Amino acid sequence: MSKLIKIFDTTLRDGEQSPGCSMNLKEKLQLARQLERLNVDIIEAGFAAASPGDLLAIKEVAGVIENTTVASLARTHKDDIDKAWEAVKDAVSPRIHTFIATSPIHMEYKLKMSPEAVMDRAEEMVKYAKKYLSNIEFSAEDATRSDVDFLAKIFTRVINAGATTINIPDTVGYTTPEEYYDFISKIRSKCPALDKVDISVHCHNDLGLGVANSLAAIRAGATQIECTINGIGERAGNASLEEIAMVLNTRKDIYPYTVNIDTKQIMRSSELLSSITGVKVQPNKAIVGANAFAHESGIHQHGVLNNKETYEIMTPESIGLHENKLVLGKHSGKHAFNDKLVAMGYNLDKEELAAAFTRFKEVADKKKEVHERDIDAIVSRQNIAV
Ligand code: KIV
Ligand code: ZN
Repeated sequence: MSKLIKIFDTTLRDGEQSPGCSMNLKEKLQLARQLERLNVDIIEAGFAAASPGDLLAIKEVAGVIENTTVASLARTHKDDIDKAWEAVKDAVSPRIHTFIATSPIHMEYKLKMSPEAVMDRAEEMVKYAKKYLSNIEFSAEDATRSDVDFLAKIFTRVINAGATTINIPDTVGYTTPEEYYDFISKIRSKCPALDKVDISVHCHNDLGLGVANSLAAIRAGATQIECTINGIGERAGNASLEEIAMVLNTRKDIYPYTVNIDTKQIMRSSELLSSITGVKVQPNKAIVGANAFAHESGIHQHGVLNNKETYEIMTPESIGLHENKLVLGKHSGKHAFNDKLVAMGYNLDKEELAAAFTRFKEVADKKKEVHERDIDAIVSRQNIAV
């Protein structure tokens, strides 16, 4: 069996921090359920201390998700950790993800703390979180602009205090694949305790290298990748989940690793996120862009007609593109509509079904084809408890 790489989805936390991408409670729940269908390993559902609404949303997500770990972000403050625990404690598998900045520039100008104080705080807060649960992730914010020896020391201390996942984020999207590979390898050689825990990476995309850096990190020993649907996130976004999953699936010859992602749910996840946020994916976006499987030139069309592999390195079906086909039309009845909803993972009560069915008929009247993405949009726009 090849080594498993855990996929930590932060669409609901870092992703939500991108302009225009904030989601209400119902939308977060709908997306969380889709992330569970996509089979991510960890859902970071929010930052509990950010607002009472965020805490409530994480709590609701934690209450409905059955097969996936649910995490809340927390600064290394007692109050944040208490709130994170309050938010995730009902999850089948809860995690607290606590972080503090470790780069000289962040420690001096943002935290106004000495490196020793940062180290003490990190250790103390991991111990504090440990009284609530065992699954604790620690992140060294701005790790790629931090000193390697300092990181090795702080990681050793937080691992001894009980952290089970150590995240080495490229917070400002500054590193490059070769540099990141060497950086992680160096930290591992200076901190043997890292061999006992999951090493995570969280790569921002400021230089367009989020996915490439994540892949370099896997080769350097990372076992968890933090990423988002459609690559949304702070500034230029995070590494895109669908790109990482499809690289690992398509190039097993150079990446002999396994991911639990059900790739056939990729397109539905991407479309649901766009329909919830109203933020469209650029047409040439890898994997999920409208043109990702389109062949415009005559030469390409000719090749693909003879043998798809001439210009397609993966099949549209593998990301669920043609799965998402016509399912119902304007002549379909309420039973067929409800059967489809159930197959898609929705359980509507009588009133919700009646409202959704009315809307479905309106949509079916306007469009010849009603796709799963239309049904997702009907559910997300109606006042339905998902
Ligand atoms: O970019 C970052 O460093 C983060 C941390 C909180 C993991 O989002
Ligand atoms: Zn981030």
